[in-house]
Amino acid sequence: MEILRIVGGNRLQGDIEISGSKNAALPQFAATLLSQEKSIISNVPNLSDVKFMAEILSELGAAVTQIDYDTWEIDPANIKHIAPYQLVRKMRASVCLLGPLVGRLRKAEIPMPGGCVIGQRPIDLHIRALECLGANVKLDRGIVKVDGKKLKGGQIFLGGRHGSTVTGTSNAIMAAVLAPGITRIESSACEPEIVDLCNMLTNMNAKIYGIGSHILEIHGVKELNGCCHEVIPDRIEAATYAIAAAMTGGEVTLKNSCYQHLGSFLNLMQECGVKIELNDENQLKVSCNQLDLKPFEIITLPYPGFPTDLQAQTSALACVSKGISILTERVYPSRFMHVPELMRMGANIAMEGSSCIVKGENQLTGAPVMASDLRASAALILAGLAAKGETWVQRIYHLDRGYESFETKLQSVGASVERIAESKLPKSYFSN
Ligand code: EPU
Repeated sequence: MEILRIVGGNRLQGDIEISGSKNAALPQFAATLLSQEKSIISNVPNLSDVKFMAEILSELGAAVTQIDYDTWEIDPANIKHIAPYQLVRKMRASVCLLGPLVGRLRKAEIPMPGGCVIGQRPIDLHIRALECLGANVKLDRGIVKVDGKKLKGGQIFLGGRHGSTVTGTSNAIMAAVLAPGITRIESSACEPEIVDLCNMLTNMNAKIYGIGSHILEIHGVKELNGCCHEVIPDRIEAATYAIAAAMTGGEVTLKNSCYQHLGSFLNLMQECGVKIELNDENQLKVSCNQLDLKPFEIITLPYPGFPTDLQAQTSALACVSKGISILTERVYPSRFMHVPELMRMGANIAMEGSSCIVKGENQLTGAPVMASDLRASAALILAGLAAKGETWVQRIYHLDRGYESFETKLQSVGASVERIAESKLPKSYFSN
């Protein structure tokens, strides 16, 4: 196992190139299965989750080749419908294979994704969507088995207790594009990653109307062709580095970052006193005098609301914004595993239901902390960058699932961050 050692206090300065979006690339890999022809996907981030997805597609029978650092070719001519448990259990997002397998093969068997540290993540809405399209779905010894022989267009409502579902919307769309007749999806998610998936499918000859809205109409076609598609930039990665710049009083230009996808986040940055300049369409300059950071309130909501995937990092920001900030989770009400770890670094945080109330000071102090999930890892590293002294973040394998070369990108703008094998840690570390 490896840990990340951070020495806080450096002001970040320079340029960071933003990678392709993880949450766009994963369903797009799955979407290639809808055609019998090869597809090429570029601007794919180099992440362990992408590699898991590539392995699962290979196990399903697709020929998957990484033809360049960020470009993959997927030839799904001969695929089967049963996904292997050993691989699927490593990554929840593999549930997005249900839609393409049912669409193309009219059947699918996928192990039910397990529990998750960020909260309950049921798939009832995914199942409802497939049933609305005429599929028969049952759970048999932990495996979701779908018989889609009678697949046809239908009316689907995807609103749940916490809003719509992103991956559930992907599944519904991908099953519907090859279902005969017309499908209408109401309360569909409209995240940029869904729009990007729809654009890719349109490129494959799917007929999807209302892209980007909460109501989609899909006219089923008989078959789809392969395509070449470039993944959109990762909005969560871009925002994470913007917060790093803000928390260190730095000045960082984010290259290849799509500011149109960051409305609610940029609005918050400006309220906090962070200066945002749009250099050209895809370059964002973020600069700030750390002492000026103002407290804020956010509520996470489905897009275009404030993203839950930025709540942990924003909690770290609140710790160094002078005054009381309130962060409320409406998407995953218990996604606060980072809070006790931030408190080990001197943060003053009280939990109240699904809100955390942060009394921000200017200074955190470094400490050994434990990452519980992907975004919590990022939050603890951001806190470490702004803290006085050394922070050691354990379980950083979570980070490699979703941030490409995180520490290398931070080092390039002046952060003191290094990855160390746990076996090389001094004994004094373990007595902490
Ligand atoms: N939900 C249900 N029933 C369902 C599906 C979802 O009740 O059938 C609930 C969930 O429990 C949650 C809410 O609806 O409370 C939203 O869940 P959603 O289905 O939208 O989440 P997801 O599609 O499983 C994606 C991202 C997550 C991100 C969420 C919300 C991918 C691969 N994952 O998950 O990303 O937090 O949307 O925006 O796209 C991350 O990148 O760190 C991450 C967790």
